[in-house]
Amino acid sequence: MYCSTKISERMWNQPDKGELEAQRERTFIDDIVQKAHIERELLQSLDGIKTAFDGGAGCGRFSVLLARRGIQVTHFDISQPMIDKAKEIAEQEGVTDRIAFVKGALEDLTAYADRSFDLVMSFDSPISYTYPNQERVIGELVRIAGKRIMISVSSRLGALPYLANPVQKNQFILDKDSKDPWVQWCLSSREQMIEGFAFNEEPLLKAYHTGLLCDIEETEAAYERGEAPWSISYHFMPDELEAILKRFGVRNISLAGPGAYARTVPNEILVKIMNDPQQRAAFLDFCHMFDSNPYVCGMGKDNLFAKGEIA
Ligand SMILES: C[S@@+](CC[C@H](N)C(=O)[O-])C[C@H]1O[C@@H](n2cnc3c(N)ncnc32)[C@H](O)[C@@H]1O
Repeated sequence: MYCSTKISERMWNQPDKGELEAQRERTFIDDIVQKAHIERELLQSLDGIKTAFDGGAGCGRFSVLLARRGIQVTHFDISQPMIDKAKEIAEQEGVTDRIAFVKGALEDLTAYADRSFDLVMSFDSPISYTYPNQERVIGELVRIAGKRIMISVSSRLGALPYLANPVQKNQFILDKDSKDPWVQWCLSSREQMIEGFAFNEEPLLKAYHTGLLCDIEETEAAYERGEAPWSISYHFMPDELEAILKRFGVRNISLAGPGAYARTVPNEILVKIMNDPQQRAAFLDFCHMFDSNPYVCGMGKDNLFAKGEIA
């Protein structure tokens, strides 16, 4: 196994991971915007789709959604806690007969024949966690897709603002009284993060040129010490992702940057919008349109979205 696979496996297999991930859209507005964008894209693209493969499917945000629409889904993930949580949600939704749960790493998809699934999807960065194999993994995902591919990966231009704004996640907290440990950490560490911050161009330039925000040697050393560091994540440029998909034969590619519009709105206003159902629906509609404009796709908050047809 490659080191990135082992690091991902340990990080995502922490026992509370499934439970925490399943809470995300109740705690952070950027996750609401991203999920709404992907959900809308998926639901608009189901013509002729009977089978789907969800690579790095997590706790089933999208695999369960498609199973509810009658599609046979293979829910594939490296993490048992994620799969367990997804199974629990699938049972609640009464769709277990339409989902096959498979534990595995995206780095090895040899079990699947060419064009095995009508739709292949992989959302919220699983592909990025396969560094340095991300291009080969995209090729494999395209190989097993029969009609359509939809993915979202870590975005380089979208992630760089984090390096000059260590409190960026605070902008998206939906409920400051939430007991979620990440929310409480964001709030309690805010002043300290600002106090300790100094602008340093060096890591920004390194990330801009390499697509890597972490120090690989440090991450590997932490892994060797028995810790569970955050997975190494490769951040793509929009033109780079488009060129890779084209090279593997994907046609009619379009890119989007879910969260690009929302990141321009301050927290107090975002919370107000989210707490009013009418404004919330209209805002999410507008975000989808704005964030689908190719000129802003790089500035998505966290992720770069791509979809295309298999030739
Ligand atoms: C941020 S979550 C996204 C989950 C889901 N796609 C969603 O959008 O809700 C990333 C998922 O990728 C999985 N993952 C990470 N590295 C992986 C790998 N190499 N192979 C398969 N799954 C992986 C993790 O276990 C986790 O469930």
